[in-house]
Amino acid sequence: MSIPGPKPNFLFGNLLSFFRKPFFQAYQDWYGEYGKTFGYFEGPTPILVTADLDVLYEVFVKQFKTFHARKVWPVQVDPDRDENVHMFFARGERWRRLRSIVNPAFSTSKMRLMTPMINQRIDQMMSVIDNHCTNQTDFDAYGIFQRLTFDTIADCGFGLKTDAMNNPDDECIKHCRGVIADTTKRPFLFMLGFIFPKFHALWIAIYNFLHHITFNPVFWLEDKMREIVRNQKKNKPSRTNLLELMLTSEYDATKDNIDVGEIDMNDKVVKRRLLTNEELVAQCLLFLLAGYETTSTTLAYIFYELAVNPKAQRRLQEENRRAFSRGRRRSRV
Ligand code: HEM
Repeated sequence: MSIPGPKPNFLFGNLLSFFRKPFFQAYQDWYGEYGKTFGYFEGPTPILVTADLDVLYEVFVKQFKTFHARKVWPVQVDPDRDENVHMFFARGERWRRLRSIVNPAFSTSKMRLMTPMINQRIDQMMSVIDNHCTNQTDFDAYGIFQRLTFDTIADCGFGLKTDAMNNPDDECIKHCRGVIADTTKRPFLFMLGFIFPKFHALWIAIYNFLHHITFNPVFWLEDKMREIVRNQKKNKPSRTNLLELMLTSEYDATKDNIDVGEIDMNDKVVKRRLLTNEELVAQCLLFLLAGYETTSTTLAYIFYELAVNPKAQRRLQEENRRAFSRGRRRSRV
């Protein structure tokens, strides 16, 4: 095919580029060199990367039923057969079922119930930052945002009263950081997985075995989530949280209008109406990691950009002032 891209090595494809520079940097360089749509190889597997809005619209909207699945990584659970599969790893009708059970938890009304919890966590962060200002001490803004998003997702997600804001060494947040770093710690195993994807089951067995001889924070967090799910099944929490909403939400194939093409209704996994214990544990782990990492990184980027662009910062302050004074006026009426 005439898709432009870097020349691949016969064994590694273009994987060695990711050893020389970070993933995003390689993508940016290739984008600069080959344009909006380019291809490269992970071992024998061809990968298409695109930043072309027309192609993205075609994939995510017009032909979603053909493209709803995510890429299967060489070292991940089996998306169709394993029990502990979350939305990021699921595909086809299983993804649709997981998504339908989880969707109600993210409705506007449910989100509104969580606003007081989020505001409380922001107030805690503001008081930590105020202290730094009063004492004129430097602080790592990214670290503070990580602690904020971790405490918020722990609270809104599972009703956990963590205090990472005042205790940066909290075990749970330490292991979340560990998971993010851990993905790059087994490059040899991942490399083998990319080069020989057909042996997927072997790589995952080795990955699971390594857990018995070396510490892996993913398994620590999974155990923690199992304990939380067990407790919440026994005792109803005092305030609504995402886990509680998932426990009570059922899958209804007739109500859901996400079209994912042909469905095998004999499949036991597809027909289940509620989430199993291990599926619950997997979704909780996904929420914890997705909520914590993405939001804190986005906040850190925004604040960095504001710090180096005083003009934009002033414009934002102005807009905030206008919006909030309007809000105050309206609340007096
Ligand atoms: C600024 C913050 C966030 C960013 C930039 C972000 C980014 C993304 C992106 C790009 C995807 C799609 C990935 C793909 O299609 O392959 C995604 C999916 C997802 N995100 Fe986020 N996310 C954020 C916050 C959150 C939070 C707070 C949660 C959970 C509480 C969350 C949970 C999820 C889940 C469960 C999915 C998979 C959904 C599905 O399979 O249908 N994300 N996120």
